[in-house]
Amino acid sequence: MTDRIGLLGFGSYTPSRVMTNTDWSALIDTTDEWIVTRTGIRERRFAADDETTVDLAANAAEKALADAGMTASDLDEIIVASDTPEVYTPDTAAHLQHRLGAREITAYDLGGSGCAGFVLALDVAKTRVQAVAKRILVVGVELISRLMDWNDRSTCVLFGDGAGAVVVGRGEDVKAELLSAAAGTDGSAAGILTLETGGTRRPFTLEEAQKGGQHDIVMNGREVYRQAVHRMADVAEKVLAQAGRLKEEIALVIPHQANLRIIDAVRSKLGLREDQVYVNVDRYGNTGSATVPLALDQARQEGRIKPGDLVVLTAFGAGFHWAGAALQF
Ligand code: ACO
Repeated sequence: MTDRIGLLGFGSYTPSRVMTNTDWSALIDTTDEWIVTRTGIRERRFAADDETTVDLAANAAEKALADAGMTASDLDEIIVASDTPEVYTPDTAAHLQHRLGAREITAYDLGGSGCAGFVLALDVAKTRVQAVAKRILVVGVELISRLMDWNDRSTCVLFGDGAGAVVVGRGEDVKAELLSAAAGTDGSAAGILTLETGGTRRPFTLEEAQKGGQHDIVMNGREVYRQAVHRMADVAEKVLAQAGRLKEEIALVIPHQANLRIIDAVRSKLGLREDQVYVNVDRYGNTGSATVPLALDQARQEGRIKPGDLVVLTAFGAGFHWAGAALQF
């Protein structure tokens, strides 16, 4: 019998409101054809007016806990990865701890690491389980629709709202062993994908509000594209090597779902077939740090992951940050 660190339960949540490309084309100067050709996105989910980040997170977390056969009182730690927090401070993890009715445990956000946040949190959780905590809830959640600029066609059509969660722990009966995890950062690229208003560099003032600065997502799409492909392929290879496994053994890669062209380019760089890469960006768009846990949960539910499968997670986001993990189901 071996004591392994891994995932004990999986859950996800997407709001019920569907926003199609045609819905967008009624609001801004865009077309279904432009969005599908450039991104592969056909529709995304947007939160209801009365939903907030912690609602999405709690829904996903409760499913992950149920899947693990646990309740919130069994948790020893909570990590929330999000760039769209419940409030500015305190963090979403504090709100989630209270909402779930968890004990007075360690809880914290990994905020600002963009779309790599959840996989980066898995890397942290692995070492935290090893060192101190026994069962850690890890959530990736974004409610981007409320914070983005609905008039900026170059960014607004890319995003959606959602949440995904896993419980990380140790034991003989983990559903997927966390074989390896790795992350990296290139802060010289901080200005390429950023939302600056609200920080100390560009405080939120009346003048900023009048300009809509709080929604001003700056993105050099081409540079993001180029770096995302290179970093996601590299970190996938790194976690495989750390786990002592080969590309030929991969059953499924679950990449960050930013757009289909990035996913296809990562797939071809890794030399994989289409059926070896999970895609749901067509249905949910880019849900930031939620894409990977959402896709992981859906892939399991759809029967795309079987016992014995080697699954690789790979993600890239603002920072630039990137992160990967290898899972043995
Ligand atoms: N509908 C119609 N036309 C549009 C839209 C839209 N929604 N958005 C931009 N355009 C126009 C532009 O104004 C431009 O027009 P112009 O030539 O008259 O100036 C034209 O389309 C081409 O724009 P480009 O930016 O050159 O289009 P590109 O082919 O680079 O595609 C895209 C843009 C999809 C953003 C691409 O660069 C990309 O996929 N980048 C990756 C970025 C990404 O996915 N970011 C998500 C967040 S970051 C992350 O998750 C890692």
